[in-house]
Amino acid sequence: MRIAITGSTGRVGAALVRHLASQHDIIPLPRAECDFEDSASLQSALDSLECDVFINPAALTNLETCEDNPRLAMRVNSAAPGKIAIWAAERGVRMIHLSTDYLVDGETTIPLTETMRPAPVSAYGRSKLAGEQAVLTHPGNLVLRVAWVFGPEKPAFVDQIFDDALAGKPLSAVADKFSLPTCTTDLAQWISALLETDASGVLHACNPGKAVSWHGMAEFVVREMTACGLLQSCPDVAELKLDEITFFHARRPRFTMMDNTRLSRLIGDLRPWPEALAEYVKYRCDSTTEIPPGP
Ligand SMILES: NC(=O)c1ccc[n+]([C@@H]2O[C@H](COP(=O)([O-])OP(=O)(O)OC[C@H]3O[C@@H](n4cnc5c(N)ncnc54)[C@H](OP(=O)(O)O)[C@@H]3O)[C@@H](O)[C@H]2O)c1
Repeated sequence: MRIAITGSTGRVGAALVRHLASQHDIIPLPRAECDFEDSASLQSALDSLECDVFINPAALTNLETCEDNPRLAMRVNSAAPGKIAIWAAERGVRMIHLSTDYLVDGETTIPLTETMRPAPVSAYGRSKLAGEQAVLTHPGNLVLRVAWVFGPEKPAFVDQIFDDALAGKPLSAVADKFSLPTCTTDLAQWISALLETDASGVLHACNPGKAVSWHGMAEFVVREMTACGLLQSCPDVAELKLDEITFFHARRPRFTMMDNTRLSRLIGDLRPWPEALAEYVKYRCDSTTEIPPGP
């Protein structure tokens, strides 16, 4: 298949370009060639494009930037995907759009299903919800909601913990906010499998397992680093409360564990997050040459 992929410099887009290139003809569309803020750039990219599938991970993902610039967030996260969806529908191109778990207020601990009632609490969440709705106006399109994405393409929260632990810095992480993460390697395999199906609508695309906080993930990372022999002893991770993070001025939902039963029914068992994260930390340990400072 000929597959166009936006956001190819981002965490998800770069992973998709890398993984899908072995089986498909990939057309990466970085912002420099297809800028969602600039309608002429987007139109020109679409005018010259021929593909069977259009995958759209590109987005304004920084919650604080979205909160400060809600109109920009709407332009990039909703208007642009909506325009692509119209273009795709006119040409019979299937669109796969990436979305988020941040579509709810996060006040309930019940796992989120694809049919839950959305109630976003941030400009980011509202813009992503509007983007989903614009894409789903056209039958046959697929929306994949991901969460707390990690993988080798671009550093994420788990890499920050890894690097700080390696540098011997004090560690802390929010302990009262829970979700299920998405590993980019797994996500790319799931999308590869979904390309062989005619799945449409919304799918929750996170690794299964017990819901975890950022603190839980941080403790997991340092335990694995210690097991790999990269740390001599397992450091403590201090617990923070979400409300203590004054840097966050966009509200974050507290509980966003997504139920991914629909995805696993379509493509089979999904790898639990502890397995995916352990493999990722092992990969980071194996590719790290620095020696941690001694006691
Ligand atoms: N990462 C997560 O934990 C997470 C969680 C939930 C949902 N998601 C969703 O997953 C998708 C992929 O996220 P990600 O982690 O890959 O994000 P990311 O690493 O921030 O990458 C975003 C990509 O979008 C591109 N982009 C930003 N503004 C653009 C514009 N105006 N025009 C064209 N491209 C633009 C960026 O290009 P530049 O490199 O040039 O800036 C980058 O390639 C997004 O839809 C996001 O909402 C991610």
